[in-house]
Amino acid sequence: MLRYIKSAASLVLWLWVSLALSLPNCPFPGAAFPKPTNLAASPTIQAALKSLTATFQTFDTTQSNNPDGTSWSLQVFSASADQPVWEHYHTAKNLLDQSSSFAVGPDTVYRLGSLTKIFTIMTFIAEAGDTRWNDPITKYIPELQLLAARAQSDPVMNVDWSSVTLGALASHMAGIMRDYALEGELTQEHNQTVLMGQGFPAAPATQVPNCGEAVLCNRAQLFAGLAITPPSFVPSNTPAYSNLAYQLLAYALESITRKSFTQMVEADILTKLGLSRTYYRQTPPLRFGRNTPGNEVGWNFSLGESSP
Ligand SMILES: *[C@@H]1O[C@H](CO)[C@@H](O)[C@H](O)[C@H]1NC(C)=O
Ligand SMILES: *[C@@H]1O[C@H](CO)[C@@H](O)[C@H](O)[C@H]1NC(C)=O
Repeated sequence: MLRYIKSAASLVLWLWVSLALSLPNCPFPGAAFPKPTNLAASPTIQAALKSLTATFQTFDTTQSNNPDGTSWSLQVFSASADQPVWEHYHTAKNLLDQSSSFAVGPDTVYRLGSLTKIFTIMTFIAEAGDTRWNDPITKYIPELQLLAARAQSDPVMNVDWSSVTLGALASHMAGIMRDYALEGELTQEHNQTVLMGQGFPAAPATQVPNCGEAVLCNRAQLFAGLAITPPSFVPSNTPAYSNLAYQLLAYALESITRKSFTQMVEADILTKLGLSRTYYRQTPPLRFGRNTPGNEVGWNFSLGESSP
């Protein structure tokens, strides 16, 4: 009996090993359904979209949504069709130039924030492939190589940069802070007197960033600041969203390709995909955003080297 169990066990093991060797990937078990196409013709989808339209018609006039002060554009689309399956646009009347007949539509330009982080990753893969995710960032950024040894004596106050991989940066697992000084709430928007009145301790003048929001930090200022910036967590331990991580990925890519990140995004993504209304370095004309003069707060604002 024991012998039988043993040979059954080795058979199972053999099967498992041979399966593992013959299948390069491990898909989730379960039924494989064909990808749905021609969604617009489906009665189920049509019924759902009708309900979606009704929901948004209510939404457009609900005062708590600020419909007179906020415009919105929505599209539902399928990767297998050129035209959206559903679209809906709302034009805020207080943002419109009263003399114009413009209305928000499919070509209206909005300011996007971190949604474009996907551009950074796609540019990286297009330019450098997908074999470098386990490399440490110190291999590509000499300034961080210089800081790397500090974590050995004090890992609480210093980022262990040689354990931070490109993959950890890309997946918000590096444990580094969200931004160095980009969001200026604590550095540039209020002075020390105001901040201490709110309960913050006095910050030593030498540790207060002198760039970030009103004056953007250049590369040298950023790395000088990172030399005195502690980690949030140890690397690869827990998710922690970081804009700074993407800036570092862009610097790494520039070091790999010897090209400027801006040129790479424009060539690999914006031009290749025909995204003619997506702007990386120039400010689009105000009218593309359907703003009136005086309502363009933040429209022409660059994040500089933090843009990736
Ligand atoms: C700090 O800011 C407050 C509010 O703007 C201002 O009243 C105060 O004079 C400022 N203090 C210093 C030292 O600049
Ligand atoms: C945007 O602002 C910069 C200065 O920060 C200025 O040089 C440029 O002309 C502005 N562009 C537009 C389209 O307003």
